[in-house]
Amino acid sequence: MNHSELRNDLFLRACRREPVDRLPVWYMRQAGRYQPEYREIKKSFSLLEITDRPELCAQVTRLPVEQLGVDAAILFSDIMVPLGPMGVHYDIQGGVGPVLPNPLRTQEAVRALRPLSPERDLPHVLETIRLLVADLDVPLIGFAGGPFTLASYMVEGRADLTRDYKRTKQMMHEDTQVWEHLMRSLSEMIVDYLRAQIAAGVSAVQIFDSWVGALDRAEFVRFVLPHLKVIAESLRATDAPVIFFGLHTAPFFPELREIGVDVIGVDWHTPIAQARSALGQRVALQGNLDPGLLLGPWEPLEQAAKAIVEEAVTAPGFIFNLGHGVIKETDPAQLARLTELVHSYSSQQCAALSQR
Ligand code: CP3
Repeated sequence: MNHSELRNDLFLRACRREPVDRLPVWYMRQAGRYQPEYREIKKSFSLLEITDRPELCAQVTRLPVEQLGVDAAILFSDIMVPLGPMGVHYDIQGGVGPVLPNPLRTQEAVRALRPLSPERDLPHVLETIRLLVADLDVPLIGFAGGPFTLASYMVEGRADLTRDYKRTKQMMHEDTQVWEHLMRSLSEMIVDYLRAQIAAGVSAVQIFDSWVGALDRAEFVRFVLPHLKVIAESLRATDAPVIFFGLHTAPFFPELREIGVDVIGVDWHTPIAQARSALGQRVALQGNLDPGLLLGPWEPLEQAAKAIVEEAVTAPGFIFNLGHGVIKETDPAQLARLTELVHSYSSQQCAALSQR
């Protein structure tokens, strides 16, 4: 895909830590239930039915780009989508998330996982990407779940009731070989799936390892980090920037800065200045406004957004985002106003800095 055809490549420039005249903005979960248009579509189609229909899925992906003026689109899908063809049965329940009737807890279950063949198994996803890149003015971000987060759904059966991830940790510590097998199968899938998305035209990819912060540092280093390194290494041959995101990952920053991804997503618990000093200058940062602030009055939201911008513009390589996904009670007008604020305030700040 020829990125220079994009009318707005600000997001990609920031991923590569090139100079920008304002900050790029997009939001995790920018397509979803906070939008009346999405809720209307959901009356007729489930999430998985949307992802099976390229025209409809492209329309859902485009909605926030048109309404909010963001600088990137993210493919509408779910981290669970590639697990179906691997032989995992699941359902996605509103207000709960993924639910598996038969969680994977034995060696046999893990061994029975089939490798994903993206072109054969998920042609509609790749077709959606092709439709989107043909007419988007902004980069399209592809994504996959991270290995820990996917494994945690597969082993626990659901995430909302078991925030302590006890069965997942039990497998790690008790059946380490089974855990390693599972992580290798998932890492292989993640690499193949993301490569196929890149070949179909996405400009960058994000790995959502949202729940990996449930581990302590020693567990992270032993049971997950080696797999993240393999994934990052395998994706480096493509020229698409790779973003890594997880909640509560500040304790892992010393390791994450070395895995070889281009961008690290920062949640709102960690101030940007602190993330910058822990992660150094060789990665770009993405984040990190508390999504809860969008539910309240404008002034505290404006203040917090401006503080992030002021910190962010002091070093190249920053993408403005939330610290986690858009909450479903969010007013779309607040998000549009926030986008405008970050665009205008960051261009003032960038101009002021370049005058010095
Ligand atoms: O706009 C976008 O960001 C793209 C859409 C997207 C969805 N899921 C659609 C979705 C993305 C990037 C995801 C990733 C995803 N899915 C993650 C990682 C990101 C994160 O938020 O941490 C995780 C952990 C999942 C698993 C999952 N799927 C959860 C936790 C939920 C929410 C449960 C709920 O109802 O609150 C889902 C369901 C889901 N995925 C919805 C959407 C829009 C909401 C339910 C629906 O519309 O049917």
